Amino acid sequence: MSKSHNVTMLGTGLIGMFYTMTLHGNRGRDRVLSVYSRSLDRAQAFAQEWGIPSATDDMAAAINDPATDTVVIGLPNYQHLEAVTLAAQAGKAILMTKPLARNAAEAKQILDIVEQAGVFAGYLEDLVYTPKTLKALASVKAGAVGDVLWVRSRETHSGPHSAWFWDKELAGGGAIIDLGCHCAEIIRNFVGKNNRPVEVMCWADTLVHPIPADDNAIALIKFENGAVGQFEVSWTFRGGMDLRDEVAGTQGTIWLNHFLRTGAEMFTAARSGYTAEKAETDSGWLFPVGDEVHELGYVHMFTDMFEAMDGDRDPMETFYDGYVINAILDACYKSAESKRWEPVELFEWRATEAAASIRTEPELRDGMALVKEELMHGNKLKQILCDQKTGKIIERIVEL
Ligand SMILES: NC(=O)c1ccc[n+]([C@@H]2O[C@H](COP(=O)([O-])OP(=O)(O)OC[C@H]3O[C@@H](n4cnc5c(N)ncnc54)[C@H](O)[C@@H]3O)[C@@H](O)[C@H]2O)c1
Repeated sequence: MSKSHNVTMLGTGLIGMFYTMTLHGNRGRDRVLSVYSRSLDRAQAFAQEWGIPSATDDMAAAINDPATDTVVIGLPNYQHLEAVTLAAQAGKAILMTKPLARNAAEAKQILDIVEQAGVFAGYLEDLVYTPKTLKALASVKAGAVGDVLWVRSRETHSGPHSAWFWDKELAGGGAIIDLGCHCAEIIRNFVGKNNRPVEVMCWADTLVHPIPADDNAIALIKFENGAVGQFEVSWTFRGGMDLRDEVAGTQGTIWLNHFLRTGAEMFTAARSGYTAEKAETDSGWLFPVGDEVHELGYVHMFTDMFEAMDGDRDPMETFYDGYVINAILDACYKSAESKRWEPVELFEWRATEAAASIRTEPELRDGMALVKEELMHGNKLKQILCDQKTGKIIERIVEL
């Protein structure tokens, strides 16, 4: 039987609520015992709602509460460094929401702090822990799609729910830092975490909102084995939250739709009330999400974090992963400015083994390399073949 953990929750906003809902859900044994919010009223109201014995507007006091062993950071991006510094000084395990920091330099500071303090640190990138994603990752690892060539990850909605997200200084950027962090880490998981991200090409613009930060972007991430990641993020998409991933491999394809097509569809001419995060309407055709904390990955994420803590191993998502993501996103911002491919600059590359290369050894037919076979009308098999010496391409029909 593994241990139970007592948690200090920093932040009582959307993510503080989702995290607490997850930790206190399903009769779980881990509990939030202390909560911090900027406003005491809000901290107390949150504590009452979730049965938390201690509430404060003093961040250090919440972190140093002797009743807790783990600090979960669910504060705006500009407060991550301060919160990590205090939690590491307290010698507690630290679980940090996404993005790790506003940029790679700040992420490196955060990484150094936890490594020097020797405390457990886990990066709460929930979207790699959704049940669908975990199953897809297991299939990819088992070779079901062959070698991964291209991963597309898309997160778009109509924009965040609090003012600080829209402030470039406080958040570290716009849609790229807010949503691209999820997409880039989903991509890394599918192409393999030992596969070094080498360079990026990014378009970003502020198409609609009256803000200096980006509200739309598309990026390509090139990995050392030739695989490519593509992400699309938007704060101007209408119609809810569009969370989709696609994996294209030499032997197969995976399509995941996490939010707008979960299998539940409902029409109401009346009002439904809340059905899902960022749903824009509560009437007409609706796409309810059954159990959001599960479908967004929070349940498997906290399970992995606490089991890693108890088992003295790294969680699936580490602070180093968070740092790599910040480095990729820094390169995206650079590329959006320069309109060129920009290198992903990492202070060190931590791979546990060499990245698997994409297999390019062709199958041979009568000494020629098989380019492709296709079954045509009349059950005739057409083969396209390449003479490896001359480069000449021919086709032939093979009777079955
Ligand atoms: N899927 C996810 O993993 C996910 C989803 C949403 C948010 N987040 C992350 O969680 C962190 C908090 O986001 P949130 O959605 O809970 O934010 P929120 O605005 O809903 O809540 C923010 C919390 O921080 C406090 N706060 C401190 N300074 C603030 C300021 N200047 N403006 C507003 N609130 C301030 C608020 O009191 C509140 O408790 C961010 O780093 C965000 O990127 C992660």
